[in-house]
Amino acid sequence: MVPFLKTELVLLGFVIRKTRLAGVEIDGTLDDCMFLNLTLRTAHRVHFLLKEFEANSSEELSRRLKTIPWEEYIDKHGYLSLTSFIKNKSITNTQFANLTAKDAIVDRIRDRKGARPDSGPKLNQTVVFLFWKGNQASVYLDTSGESLNRRGYRKESHTAPMQETLAAAIIQAGKWESDWHFINPMCGSGTLAIEAALMATQKAPGLLRPNFGIKHILGFEEDSWKKLRSELRQASVKEPKGRIIASDIDSRAIQAAKKNAQTAGVDHLIEFKKCDFRDTEIPDGNGVVVFNPPYGERIGEENELPILYKAIGDFFKKECAGKWGYVFTGNLPLSKKIGLRSSQRIELYNSTIESRLLEFELY
Ligand SMILES: C[S@@+](CC[C@H](N)C(=O)[O-])C[C@H]1O[C@@H](n2cnc3c(N)ncnc32)[C@H](O)[C@@H]1O
Repeated sequence: MVPFLKTELVLLGFVIRKTRLAGVEIDGTLDDCMFLNLTLRTAHRVHFLLKEFEANSSEELSRRLKTIPWEEYIDKHGYLSLTSFIKNKSITNTQFANLTAKDAIVDRIRDRKGARPDSGPKLNQTVVFLFWKGNQASVYLDTSGESLNRRGYRKESHTAPMQETLAAAIIQAGKWESDWHFINPMCGSGTLAIEAALMATQKAPGLLRPNFGIKHILGFEEDSWKKLRSELRQASVKEPKGRIIASDIDSRAIQAAKKNAQTAGVDHLIEFKKCDFRDTEIPDGNGVVVFNPPYGERIGEENELPILYKAIGDFFKKECAGKWGYVFTGNLPLSKKIGLRSSQRIELYNSTIESRLLEFELY
């Protein structure tokens, strides 16, 4: 996901300071965090760095954490959740380290303000993220709270829905342009088609959800937030130029996809059809045809799937000339059955499943 996130940030005018395995670093303010939470399509979280320091033990971590003015960020009557990534030889019990860190934060607030916030696992209020690797610790406010892939529109899910952020990355990875057709047979819960509709209308995905970690940080400026949301709403366009077509053989999938699209406010932009993928309309003009076929997650599918993947290849050959074809799958041996030479194979992870997005130029 990192290359797609980098592209997004560069297009938004940010300079990439550092690329990490699972993220990128940029310079920015808390106001920038507001903007990024609302607009980024492929990011899971926006972390705001408070402090970096050396810590060799839990005691040292606690001491250092207490030097951060937490009372300026977290309400003494608020609620705090601490998340972490800890890889440190001296720490065998990461839960204990988390507890130490959380205690240091709430103790400081109690010492300065006479009361301490509640704490627990819920991510719907103030969230602090601790990254502690070796003897280097970095402490962040997690300005997203709940992961940004939870856009808030997916109320219904059919078999194996993909994360919204992954769907956005798949679309970005391909050749699709916002005025092209976007055709998504085997649409399942509709995630790809909905993300395409959001992109085609330049609708900021964060507008769909009301809550973010940043809203619970002391000093949060409600007026700036509302102004930004209204500006972003106005910047979106009404009608995409290309057609967005989503189909699935299962009527429950189509029902779920329609409902999700409705929640996302894009149901009027997507043409849904319950049909076998071979009967999906492929309109003339520039476009992409994107498949996320089943890849063997259900028992009994193993024998049928090679035939299905071959049929996708045949459909590409016979019906989709002039388009770009894409197949996203977590089953690499099966992808060979498509029987076409891919022009690109892009590695992406579907949660923990190593997957590929295969691109086919269809003559
Ligand atoms: C892995 S799911 C797609 C998930 C989707 N990307 C999402 O985010 O929800 C695969 C879908 O392919 C559909 N499917 C399987 N065989 C099909 C066929 N022959 N024609 C059309 N759809 C089919 C299934 O009903 C299922 O919804």
